[in-house]
Amino acid sequence: MSDPLPFERPAQAVRTATAERELGPTGRPMPDLPEPRPVTQHGHPRVISMCNQKGGVGKTTTTINLGASLAEYGRRVLLVDFDPQGSLSVGLGLNPHEMDLTVYNLLMERDVSVDDVIVPTGVPGMDLLPSNIDLSAAEVQLVHEVAREQTLQRVLGPALANYDVVLIDCQPSLGLLTVNALTASDGVIVPLECEYFALRGVALLKTTIDKVRERLNPKLEIDGVLGTMFDGRTLHSREVMDRLVQAWGDKVFHTVIRRTIKFSDSTVAGEPITSYATTSTGAASYRQLAKEVLARCLDG
Ligand SMILES: Nc1ncnc2c1ncn2[C@@H]1O[C@H](COP(=O)(O)OP(=O)(O)O)[C@@H](O)[C@H]1O
Ligand SMILES: [Mg+2]
Repeated sequence: MSDPLPFERPAQAVRTATAERELGPTGRPMPDLPEPRPVTQHGHPRVISMCNQKGGVGKTTTTINLGASLAEYGRRVLLVDFDPQGSLSVGLGLNPHEMDLTVYNLLMERDVSVDDVIVPTGVPGMDLLPSNIDLSAAEVQLVHEVAREQTLQRVLGPALANYDVVLIDCQPSLGLLTVNALTASDGVIVPLECEYFALRGVALLKTTIDKVRERLNPKLEIDGVLGTMFDGRTLHSREVMDRLVQAWGDKVFHTVIRRTIKFSDSTVAGEPITSYATTSTGAASYRQLAKEVLARCLDG
């Protein structure tokens, strides 16, 4: 049997591909992102939390690779591992059993200063406050502290003058550690997996952010919502992206992070994808996200 529409199908496919190029994976026109400005003076950083109470959505991957991309653009970056699982520290090549001092000591011991805990990473211009499982005890112990929600903000303070951006990798919960991260932050980035159930729980996250803004930190803003593990070949990923844009509008970053095994490989290697697979699409996406973040809330 012959095809009833022999020419129209390919033509349609071409149209769709062109439309996607022009519109971008979020279904909106891609903006021209300016080249990041060189910086001569450091300090007064924007503090940004990566937050989503779901695990496995790309918080840690985004912290490492957005941080490394911002460092490539000349920004001084401090990463804060604020998850007792310590994946951020491991993903940057640290051994959880061989850490002298961690964020736990910084939070709980008055004679430990932030400079004692900061370690350099393999990425020039990017430092880390490491964590391991010790941090899980802080969640319980902080409950008895005076101004318990402001503890991270207080201990980070002396380090801020050295950096242009601080990225806090939150744990997958909305407990006291995450409230501390939000209280210490100027902005929040919400990574969301492009998967059907991604929107579940987002209302609760938004309520938590609103409560922290009302009660503890009036300056707190949502800097952006990031679609991760996007698969452009599936209608499913596109539908999730459409719904994200319907729900969050301009807050959704134009950049999406596609699903690729290279991210797991680079974690095993203990380095960001921007150095592990420097010409990969994953690296390119995080560099584009860095440009978008700079244009939206750092250089603007
Ligand atoms: N875009 C992606 N494509 C494929 N795998 C990814 C992607 N982003 C993250 N991963 C992998 O998914 C797992 C969870 O990611 P992670 O960043 O640790 O999430 P979270 O910090 O939110 O728990 C990790 O094994 C990571 O390597
Ligand atoms: Mg994580």
